[in-house]
Amino acid sequence: MPISIVAGNWKMNTTIVEAAALASSMVGDLEEVNGVEVVICPPFVSLAVVAEVLRGSSVALGAQNMHHEVKGAFTGEVSPSMLATICQFVILGHSERRQFFAESDESVNRKIQAAQRVGLRPIVCVGEQLEEREAGRAEQVVAGQLRAGLEGVARVEGLVVAYEPIWAIGTGMAATPEIADGMMAHVRGVLSSVYGPEQASDVPLLYGGSVKPDNVDEFMELPNVNGALVGGASLDSASFVAIAHSAAEASS
Ligand code: PGA
Repeated sequence: MPISIVAGNWKMNTTIVEAAALASSMVGDLEEVNGVEVVICPPFVSLAVVAEVLRGSSVALGAQNMHHEVKGAFTGEVSPSMLATICQFVILGHSERRQFFAESDESVNRKIQAAQRVGLRPIVCVGEQLEEREAGRAEQVVAGQLRAGLEGVARVEGLVVAYEPIWAIGTGMAATPEIADGMMAHVRGVLSSVYGPEQASDVPLLYGGSVKPDNVDEFMELPNVNGALVGGASLDSASFVAIAHSAAEASS
């Protein structure tokens, strides 16, 4: 069983001053959470200041996106090697990037490979839209995203997969445990068909989509769930700490 991960995706929220304050308000309590890896993913401009706050603590730092090239004429972009100096994780292929920034499976694939090259752990996000679920295509969509995203990715080392049904993100309408359970088993099966059962069982699978302190247990008790990717609730120190504690208890 992989070590569970609780990652907070702050999205495009907090100024630099607010990010430092938010990280400071939670780092002490998060340090007391044992048995799960806790990751904070602030906006790019706040990574350095949050890295300072987290320095010497057990809490890891992640970015929310990156470019796949190491350097060059890509105005406005941030490279894997820039992130590798301060981050341990990077979220890739979040549905908001796919939806609003035309990110494709192919670009996610290039980014996963680039992240692995510099030693960043990619948190690869997959998930279906409501219409796709209603049409009975959810599993096919997620399998397609996974297979295309992992094309040519030879190693699972460091890989993390987050299943985030798009209809559950930021809506307060989390997936039911039944839906999450079914999809997580499916994701594990797809990984197994690509990498074999042993390697597939080492990949932490996170559930994301309206995770809150009062529903995290429902997900953590599912056999194929090894943590959570938390959006809105990660912007509230008490909520995020509570989620991390619950996840740690469920994993012990
Ligand atoms: P949410 O976001 O927890 O606010 O639903 C999750 C995510 O987008 O990672």
